Amino acid sequence: MKRIHTAGPSITAKEIEYVTDAVTNCWYDGANAYHERFEPAFAQYLGVPHALAVGSGTSSLHLAVLALGLGPGDEVIVPELTWIATSAAANYVGAQPVFADVDPVTWCLDAESFRACITPRTRAVMPVDLYGGVPDYAAIRAIAAEHDIAVIEDAAQALGTRVGEAQAGSFGDMAAFSFHGTKTMVTGEGGMWVTTRADLVERALSLRDHGRRAGDDRFFINHEIGNKFKMSSMQAALGLAQLERIEELVAMKRRIFEWYREDLGEVPGLTLNHEAPGTRNSVWMSSVVLSPEFGITKEDVIARLGEQDIAMRPFFYPLSSQPAYADDPQAAAARERNRVSYELSPLGLNLPSSLRATRDDVARVSRALRDMLDEGRG
Ligand SMILES: Cc1ncc(COP(=O)(O)O)c(C=O)c1O
Repeated sequence: MKRIHTAGPSITAKEIEYVTDAVTNCWYDGANAYHERFEPAFAQYLGVPHALAVGSGTSSLHLAVLALGLGPGDEVIVPELTWIATSAAANYVGAQPVFADVDPVTWCLDAESFRACITPRTRAVMPVDLYGGVPDYAAIRAIAAEHDIAVIEDAAQALGTRVGEAQAGSFGDMAAFSFHGTKTMVTGEGGMWVTTRADLVERALSLRDHGRRAGDDRFFINHEIGNKFKMSSMQAALGLAQLERIEELVAMKRRIFEWYREDLGEVPGLTLNHEAPGTRNSVWMSSVVLSPEFGITKEDVIARLGEQDIAMRPFFYPLSSQPAYADDPQAAAARERNRVSYELSPLGLNLPSSLRATRDDVARVSRALRDMLDEGRG
């Protein structure tokens, strides 16, 4: 039986053509030719003024906290349910991540939990657009403005999501995207840092490139200690080709989600990704949360469907439960406080959502899951 993968990209002749051109021609003086097309095109797609291509989503989050000048003594509020790249960005600069709970419907940062975590040391909040869904940005931004807290949107998983006409990535002071090979749009490894704030761009350019200042064309002059965060021209070429197809890629993700909705939407005890009226969830990962009444966990489902060559992924484990944060000063309180995250995490699964998935693949996954649940009921 064919193996069904959790994720996988859509690559066409366009991507191969652009990357071939980059690897053949984009060296020396032409090394930035694709960056110069990719970055403004990405910014334009989002409707934000500035975008800088970087080597990973992790680097784009790191660049965001560096650009704000965060460091020891500062606190950054993050949701419990996310990949560790979100909170690690705070740790990289010596700031303290503070783990807030998520909302049971959106699975994203809960605005009231965010408010409750604010202290005089809070400098930033990093809401995560989990699996393509969005938190209540109107509420989060209002609370952040009240307390003079910067909003860094972790949109790593949400390219193409919209709230009204506004694109994911445009809801904060800055946002981070990932083009990791599992994402809707891929460059292998890669990411984008975007901002709505002109005052942060020069800082970010310098921090991305070993402290070289934009406009200072002298060789080898470093004005500060920076990083090496830029992506290669081959990645930028692949990114541009994918970006030119982004609406097609998002439509493919949404079609996969529609298939799951047809197959699983009416099954009692299953909850699929949320899409509030007026929003477009780009559903990077079609996902499902099981009712606790089934008495089975995400690990049970992964093991059982794995035997049938179907790859599923678990929802993230709460950050405060991670061994990496075992001794963190914030983790113990978070483990007590963040009830929704601790309830959702054991019951949540990412369904196979590869851009190469067919209708038959989705039907096979849905059937296998329904059979398992029926056995549990019977
Ligand atoms: C929510 C979130 N933030 C950040 C990242 C980091 O992106 P990257 O793997 O490109 O470094 C990821 C990657 O999966 C992610 O899912």
